[in-house]
Amino acid sequence: MKPVSVVILAAGQGKRMRSPLPKVLHPLAGRSLITHVLDVARALEPQRICVVYGHGGETLPEAVRAPDLAFVRQAPQLGTGHALAQALPQLGGAGLTLVLYGDVPLIELNTLKAMINTKREQVAILTTEIDDPTGYGRVVRDRRGAVRAIIEDKDATPAQRRIREINTGIMALPTRRLKGWLSLIRNRNAQREYYLTDIVALALKDKVPVATVSAHAAWEALGVNSKAQLAQVERAWQWRNAQGLLDQGVTLADPARVDVRGELACGAEVSIDVNCVFEGRVRLGDGVVVGANCVLRNAEVGAGTRIEPFTLMEEARIGERCRIGPYARIRPGTSLAEDVHIGNFVEVKASAIAARSKANHLSYIGDAVVGRDVNIGAGTITCNYDGANKHRTVIEDDVHIGSDVQLVAPVTVGRGSTVGAGTTVWKDTSEGGLVINAKSQEQRPGWKRPVKTKVSGSP
Ligand code: UD1
Ligand code: CA
Repeated sequence: MKPVSVVILAAGQGKRMRSPLPKVLHPLAGRSLITHVLDVARALEPQRICVVYGHGGETLPEAVRAPDLAFVRQAPQLGTGHALAQALPQLGGAGLTLVLYGDVPLIELNTLKAMINTKREQVAILTTEIDDPTGYGRVVRDRRGAVRAIIEDKDATPAQRRIREINTGIMALPTRRLKGWLSLIRNRNAQREYYLTDIVALALKDKVPVATVSAHAAWEALGVNSKAQLAQVERAWQWRNAQGLLDQGVTLADPARVDVRGELACGAEVSIDVNCVFEGRVRLGDGVVVGANCVLRNAEVGAGTRIEPFTLMEEARIGERCRIGPYARIRPGTSLAEDVHIGNFVEVKASAIAARSKANHLSYIGDAVVGRDVNIGAGTITCNYDGANKHRTVIEDDVHIGSDVQLVAPVTVGRGSTVGAGTTVWKDTSEGGLVINAKSQEQRPGWKRPVKTKVSGSP
């Protein structure tokens, strides 16, 4: 294969997005549009990748800067031909230049490989047929089917407007010809822009053949110009991703009702009910069952665990054979060993819970270390926050905590002890035995709230 340089055009404003954020930074499946394009570009292992940016100032380079990327500013933006011309000094002389669009994010590696896998010198354009070609450049062919030109929608005759084969914008061009061709492009057209698409006619004039490659699915070439198109592209991405999960053997109750915004890795025999959202990196072990309406963000779930409906989980590690939910909230820094049960309306934060322990109803467990075989009764709260600072609660192995218990941290509940219902535990308890409060109430006039302790280095 010839050496390839990739140029990603991304200088346009994206006016129809009605957003101050540069268009290519809008998220698709949890990552910016241009990140999807950069991923597929990198997979080609080109000799260089050059991003043409402009509208929105330095926001775009700042968002995606990386050592393997060159950035070229195009200001003002005078059209796609002008945009590619700005990248010329970055391209060297040999091989191919592949032009990608920052707002066409679903393009696939195999399609791009088909475009650059050629021995002879040629121009390759990626085209597709669509039912409503309005707005796109049309591929005009002669009677023998050879490409003659690309005509923009605004410049097309009524007959040309009826052509359903459109230019996706993606092209592979012989780099050594670019300088000459780009210098010949004029802006005498309806939009007063320097159209990169005029390069087709210039190539033909120089007897360089123009080949077309068809996108294997029309959605590959979908561009994002509006929020409506962004939503459409999101659905296409999600559908494609869901098909991949099904192919791997994941059971999806409805492939149209699962959203992956990042990476979801599944073991064997995983089952996912409707309306689940997976964000960041999520790993589900063998046999994991996820009920309807769950949100999992950066989480690892061990084999055989069931997550019941309406569970929200983030930055957590869940062991094997656990039961979580329904209506559980698992917050960052949670780590559960195997066979742990976390039930309805239980919130767990920054806590480690050892094997076979259970908190089945209406509890808050924060900044706690919970041993194995612990039972935490309904309505138990770790009072980890004194209004200024957070403190730890330690519950040792085999502890049984009754309902409606407050554990005022810092506090340790000793191994094997039992805490009676309604108890407020504010002193460490010894091992074994029963802990209950004497039924009295006292008032302390003039009591002062604690103040925050300064951490060195903080202001
Ligand atoms: C372009 C093609 C059209 C094709 C369509 C596919 C041209 C002249 N037309 O039209 O044939 O059917 O894409 O979506 O190429 N850009 C810059 N600098 C500029 C202008 C554009 O970087 O000065 C970038 C934009 O950010 C965008 C891409 O180029 O990523 C396409 O620009 P856009 O204005 O959307 O082109 P279209 O009119 O849609
Ligand atoms: Ca466009």
